[in-house]
Amino acid sequence: MFRDKQHLRIPGPTPVPPEVLSASARPMINHRGDEFRKLLEGVTRGLQGVFQTGNDVIVLTTSGTGGLEAAVSNLLSPGEKALVASCGAFGDRVADIARAYGVDVVKSEVEWGRANDPEDVGRLLDQNPDIKVVFVTHNETSTGVENDVRALASVARAHDALIVVDAVSSLGSANLETDAWGLDVVVTASQKGLMTPPGLAFVSVSERAWKKIESAKCPRFYFDLAKARTFAQRWENPFTPAVSLLQALRDALSIIEAEGLPSVFARHARMALAVRAGIKALGLGLLAGDACASKTVTAVTPPAGVDADEFRKFLKSNYGVILAGGQGRLKGKIFRIAHMGYTDELDMVAALAALEMGLVKKGHPVKLGSGVAALEEVLAK
Ligand SMILES: Cc1ncc(COP(=O)(O)O)c(C=O)c1O
Repeated sequence: MFRDKQHLRIPGPTPVPPEVLSASARPMINHRGDEFRKLLEGVTRGLQGVFQTGNDVIVLTTSGTGGLEAAVSNLLSPGEKALVASCGAFGDRVADIARAYGVDVVKSEVEWGRANDPEDVGRLLDQNPDIKVVFVTHNETSTGVENDVRALASVARAHDALIVVDAVSSLGSANLETDAWGLDVVVTASQKGLMTPPGLAFVSVSERAWKKIESAKCPRFYFDLAKARTFAQRWENPFTPAVSLLQALRDALSIIEAEGLPSVFARHARMALAVRAGIKALGLGLLAGDACASKTVTAVTPPAGVDADEFRKFLKSNYGVILAGGQGRLKGKIFRIAHMGYTDELDMVAALAALEMGLVKKGHPVKLGSGVAALEEVLAK
């Protein structure tokens, strides 16, 4: 096997197109100069296209968690109540961030593998009319579940609450209409659907959210969004930005623009359907039901007697196929196949073929080619 050749099928960092990688190796530029201002302006406009918004999009030098922390610390005050709808490890993380800032968290929860229930969110908001901010996860990466953000947003709006969306593992892969769905704050990161190395987070902020930010009292410094907005008005960042990543992102955004958002979304939806069909044909379990299945990552339960983590190690060392494991309470119980960003249908064929071969080698009664055949049936439609 080639040392550097991997079939990286984890839900971030995702593979980076070669031209994006080489863009990140361009010479350094002055981050207070015209060249940088042009870069940040272009990238911000490109991001507004992918976010489907006319709102401000703030660029932060951090990972997705930093973007979520920025949302919490800028919108809320210590002691204030906020609702967190969680259906997995990343929803729980938002609740943990909020608690770390002294926020009184009210949680709407479901069994892992299911989507959040807009009715439950509505019930909790009825019971807690003082809640003014609701956090939801668009795509819960730990369980492979996509939430109905449009429905959740309309419940929040009906209760006069702001809606904050963690779109870290969906933006640029699955449709999320920031303005049309009335989403106040949307957070994502560079290393997933946006096909860029890790290190940047992006936060869109509506006018309603800016108003709330004015009165919110949680402490903040590096992630002060109002300060970032002031600098962004002249296309600068308050601090030294990750210039190389922005240079890379500019190319990644132009790749997305050239493919066009509708076909980017269709490619992800098709890969998700195809992988699910292949997994079903192999007789393995799917954690999420068809109705709430993620477009970017599929969580699979292995057959009885197969340890998920040991099987992942086997796939990596034998075929160079790298899958993700379970997180939190799902550790060791599932593996996850990502179909996100710079990936296509043939990548899924390779992943499924490796699964089949691995299962056969482990002595499981799987007919070689059956998963790939089911996958191909979906792709042929
Ligand atoms: C849905 C979701 N939210 C938040 C995060 C955290 O992002 P990061 O690891 O970039 O801090 C991730 C990362 O996988 C994620 O998938």
